[in-house]
Amino acid sequence: MRIDIITIFPEMFESPFNHSIIKRAKDKNLVEIHLHQLRDYSVNKHKHVDDYPFGGGAGMVMMIEPISKCIDSLKAERDYDEIIYTSPDGEVLSQKVANRLTLYNNIILLCGHYKGIDERIREHYITSEISIGDYVLSGGELAACVITDAVIRLLPGVLNDETSALSDSFQDNLLSPPVYTRPYEFNGLKVPDILLSGNDKLINQWKHEQSLQRTQQRRPDLLK
Ligand code: ADE
Repeated sequence: MRIDIITIFPEMFESPFNHSIIKRAKDKNLVEIHLHQLRDYSVNKHKHVDDYPFGGGAGMVMMIEPISKCIDSLKAERDYDEIIYTSPDGEVLSQKVANRLTLYNNIILLCGHYKGIDERIREHYITSEISIGDYVLSGGELAACVITDAVIRLLPGVLNDETSALSDSFQDNLLSPPVYTRPYEFNGLKVPDILLSGNDKLINQWKHEQSLQRTQQRRPDLLK
């Protein structure tokens, strides 16, 4: 999979994309991530990419030309399955949305800033909009990091134990069961004995019941 990210802050991606699972996926060539500095496509000598909104109002708007130049140059190189704008107006990211994105070969993530992007980009270039929740971030970069992480960990071969993404919370609309590790006892706090029983059938049954109970208590909406 190839992910192209258009941003005015490419540095914001350095740490999240160079650690842990995303780094491993890149090292194994399971994903290519390309960052594009939007200012490099500015048509203005000061490298501005924003301007005042027509009709007035607070805040600046990201201009059509740099974004369209950047997207056009990427589209000239390859076909894209989706051109996604990270925006609080979009479809809220869920495990289902992340699963859908894993089916694509090439996607573009466009990170918004200021009061948003010129509407003509949304109408003529963007194929979907994704929000990471009902709150407003200062820009789309953190949302693009979250989307990228949620997708990459699902790509075949990225996780060592392929079943571990399948048992993630939400993958089957249930939260994960509690987990424990050594020591068996800490200051009188013990691990549930069933987990040491060696009986896989009973252990899996217990885990499923715990998942159901936890989902019922914390996220009953998922069970509907
Ligand atoms: N940009 C600003 N807020 C956002 C959000 N909640 N999700 C995605 N992109 C955003």
